[in-house]
Amino acid sequence: MRSYRIAAIPADGIGPEVISAGLEVLDALAARCGDFRLEIEPYDWGSAHYRRHGALMPADGLERLRGVDAIYFGAVGAPDVPDHVTLWGLRLPICQGFDQYANVRPTRILPGVTSPLRGIAAGDLDWLIIRENSEGEYAGHGGRAHRGHPEEVATEVAIFTRAGVTRIMRFAFGQAQARPRRHLTVVTKSNAQRHGMVMWDEIAAEVAREFPAVTWDRELVDAMTTRMVRRPASIDTVVATNLHADILSDLAAALAGSLGIAPTGNVDPERRFPSMFEPIHGSAFDITGKGIANPVASFWTAAMMLEHLGEGDAARRLMAAVEQVCAAGIVTPDLGGRASTAEVTRAVCEAIAGANR
Ligand code: IPM
Ligand code: MG
Repeated sequence: MRSYRIAAIPADGIGPEVISAGLEVLDALAARCGDFRLEIEPYDWGSAHYRRHGALMPADGLERLRGVDAIYFGAVGAPDVPDHVTLWGLRLPICQGFDQYANVRPTRILPGVTSPLRGIAAGDLDWLIIRENSEGEYAGHGGRAHRGHPEEVATEVAIFTRAGVTRIMRFAFGQAQARPRRHLTVVTKSNAQRHGMVMWDEIAAEVAREFPAVTWDRELVDAMTTRMVRRPASIDTVVATNLHADILSDLAAALAGSLGIAPTGNVDPERRFPSMFEPIHGSAFDITGKGIANPVASFWTAAMMLEHLGEGDAARRLMAAVEQVCAAGIVTPDLGGRASTAEVTRAVCEAIAGANR
């Protein structure tokens, strides 16, 4: 039987609720498929760890994760710890330490879910956003001087390297090529940002020659927001910088109905290191502990993780079960339903076991 080691890091807020829901569903799936098993290694890292030990994870955290096949991550962020501390203490060190340079964000409208866009058909919004995940605006380059004085100065420098842009561009063209429409939109802001962004455009044109089967176009990021709202069907695969894609993917999730359903993968395409899969929604302290967090993002995340592990059949079975449950209207309040996290989870487990068929 195929076996995979999975590190589970539920961390903060609703993270533990949705990750335990996801693990329940993965259990049901492994039982149903019968040809693979998951060995789950739980890690209690996050803001509580920070309050106890002064760090979100132990100093040898990356070493401990290095041998796993994938990381299943919840959410990080707490009201009493500054956001930049939690982010730079756990999620970014893993992304950067394991060179997970491709952030993969699929979005589509699941059955039974209503998009805020008027008159849109489900097939009109089926996007894959590829976010550069290792440099750009998140490179952490910059500093502050003269703190507290009137002449205080702060810089936040975006870093773009030819190697970094080329590899994300190749990955994005490759992803576009594997999708039925084979279309890629390269997003920049090369009218205003005339160095790094112009280099993006140039490298896109170079890499495009390696992928003659893919059609592609360019869009400025501001115009892209309009296009996503007004001409969603013109979009298939998208590649953008770390910050631009961060913003576009929130818009994408909202247009597809809810931030509560959107998954993401922080992927090392070369598989030198484990990749990390997480729901996009974050820790959501306003609803923590209420039992109403939408577990669909963590289920979809689990499906992406299975796909990455080579368990495509299991991934498809999981998504079919999720879609069946959404279509039946068994959804949490963020999607206009009345079901709890536990009820959605149970329904998906039953759908996997075939009880509803
Ligand atoms: C995301 C999130 C994070 C990001 C936050 C939590 C820092 O918004 O995954 O999109 O900006 O990368
Ligand atoms: Mg974001």
